[in-house]
Amino acid sequence: MKAAVLTAAALYSSGAVAATSYSLVKEYAGASFFDGWVFYDFYDNTTSGDINYVSQANATAEKLAYVDNNGAAIIKVDNTTFVPWNQKRDSVRVTTADYFDLGSVLIMDATHIPYGCGIWPSFWTKGESWPAGGEIDIVEAINSMTDNQYALHSNEGCSASSSASFSGSIGVTDCNSTAGCQFSETKANSYGPGFSAAGGGVYATLFDTSGVAIWFWSRNDVPSSISATATTVDISDWGTPSANYSSTACNFNEFFAPQQIVLDITMCGTWAGVPSIYGSQCPITGASQANATSCYMQNVYNNGNQTALATAYFEINYIRAFNANGTILSSSGATTSVNPTSAAASGTASVSGSSASSTGSSGKSSGAGAMVMSGAAKAWALATGVGALFAWTLM
Ligand SMILES: *[C@@H]1O[C@H](CO)[C@@H](O)[C@H](O)[C@H]1NC(C)=O
Ligand SMILES: *[C@@H]1O[C@H](CO)[C@@H](O)[C@H](O)[C@H]1NC(C)=O
Ligand SMILES: *[C@@H]1O[C@H](CO)[C@@H](O)[C@H](O)[C@H]1NC(C)=O
Ligand SMILES: *[C@@H]1O[C@H](CO)[C@@H](O)[C@H](O)[C@H]1NC(C)=O
Ligand SMILES: *[C@@H]1O[C@H](CO)[C@@H](O)[C@H](O)[C@H]1NC(C)=O
Ligand SMILES: *[C@@H]1O[C@H](CO)[C@@H](O)[C@H](O)[C@H]1NC(C)=O
Ligand SMILES: *[C@@H]1O[C@H](CO)[C@@H](O)[C@H](O)[C@H]1NC(C)=O
Ligand SMILES: *[C@@H]1O[C@H](CO)[C@@H](O)[C@H](O)[C@H]1NC(C)=O
Repeated sequence: MKAAVLTAAALYSSGAVAATSYSLVKEYAGASFFDGWVFYDFYDNTTSGDINYVSQANATAEKLAYVDNNGAAIIKVDNTTFVPWNQKRDSVRVTTADYFDLGSVLIMDATHIPYGCGIWPSFWTKGESWPAGGEIDIVEAINSMTDNQYALHSNEGCSASSSASFSGSIGVTDCNSTAGCQFSETKANSYGPGFSAAGGGVYATLFDTSGVAIWFWSRNDVPSSISATATTVDISDWGTPSANYSSTACNFNEFFAPQQIVLDITMCGTWAGVPSIYGSQCPITGASQANATSCYMQNVYNNGNQTALATAYFEINYIRAFNANGTILSSSGATTSVNPTSAAASGTASVSGSSASSTGSSGKSSGAGAMVMSGAAKAWALATGVGALFAWTLM
């Protein structure tokens, strides 16, 4: 069975060559950036972070998701609320209603990516079912890290191969492992204070039958073919990608379904909040301190860590999606051809069926009409130990 799968993958990859030109199918930018996203509206139940992802109405009212005076989209963690013991801090997780199929290129241009002690942001994609539909982690790092980390997650049978050409540093290769199959960025200023100090930069992702490749450029190195207005993009002058998951080691037709884009910022949880990791990345020096390795106590509780929270925001110029066939998939599964000139944010082609309830229910996906964690639900969670479980296990 395993051998048969590998043979099929090898045969497939021998004929898989990525197209070089892709046309614009969707743009999230400017005043209409937040059109076409579903807000999670539930606590972080996928990575056990000490975060309550709010509804669009609450995010707007609390100014956690808005477009600033420069036309950039801001997504941030609440840094003004006093959080009582054992409760969570408000933040945002959004998922696109539309799906992007194999043969797509996704480009994100940002000037700030969240960082700081306890902070765990991600810009990633996922299929409707998880892990069967696959996951691509494009931007993900925690605490005081300064280099971005890339990962794929999939069912068993897909891996990263060190024989692909890439400029990053390869890590775990099994995409079915807990950490996924990983590459670390080795170029300067991919994450942390250095990213914004350099004026931000661009992350570009090729999602194709020939493989998944991810490029990062700091602001001064962004290829001239990438712009806020181009209606087509040509990957042939982009050079060697930082991460390259070649189809020789993963059959992308088998392990990856059409992808939705997700942006979120959690805190602590199953990566940033692990005491050994948190304690080594955010050590407290000086007099002996109580709760020194408790990410929750140091950064979430009460007024939180105001220094870390002040840098816990995305500032995004645009996210633009391109497709070799010029098509996009709506949440109902309808495939629509998009005229690239009408795909710009102001005149995004209306996709048939997009009013249908979005996103699936399994794995990391968000429920469209998801439950609102009301005050009563919070009280229930506390009473039954749901909140406490997360808080206590992470301290
Ligand atoms: C949204 O805000 C209302 C009013 O403050 C609050 O009752 C509700 O719990 C909030 N919802 C979420 C998901 O935080
Ligand atoms: C779209 O592109 C993908 C990947 O290049 C290809 O597998 C698929 O057959 C194409 N679909 C259509 C309808 O052309
Ligand atoms: C608060 O966050 C800053 C920046 O992330 C960090 O340098 C500092 O050590 C943190 N303070 C505490 C008490 O954890
Ligand atoms: C990924 O690596 C393979 C194997 O070296 C190469 O053929 C392919 O062109 C690389 N992908 C990109 C986008 O450069
Ligand atoms: C794949 O991941 C699942 C879920 O973590 C695990 O049960 C299974 O053992 C893994 N398979 C391999 C080969 O590691
Ligand atoms: C925090 O430190 C105090 C004082 O040492 C201690 O009583 C408490 O149990 C600690 N809390 C956690 C969650 O570690
Ligand atoms: C809260 O965060 C914002 C950035 O999102 C920052 O501009 C502001 O100064 C922070 N407030 C405080 C009190 O640190
Ligand atoms: C998380 O909560 C959402 C909304 O209730 C639900 O659809 C999803 O299945 C939950 N995920 C997990 C892993 O529990």
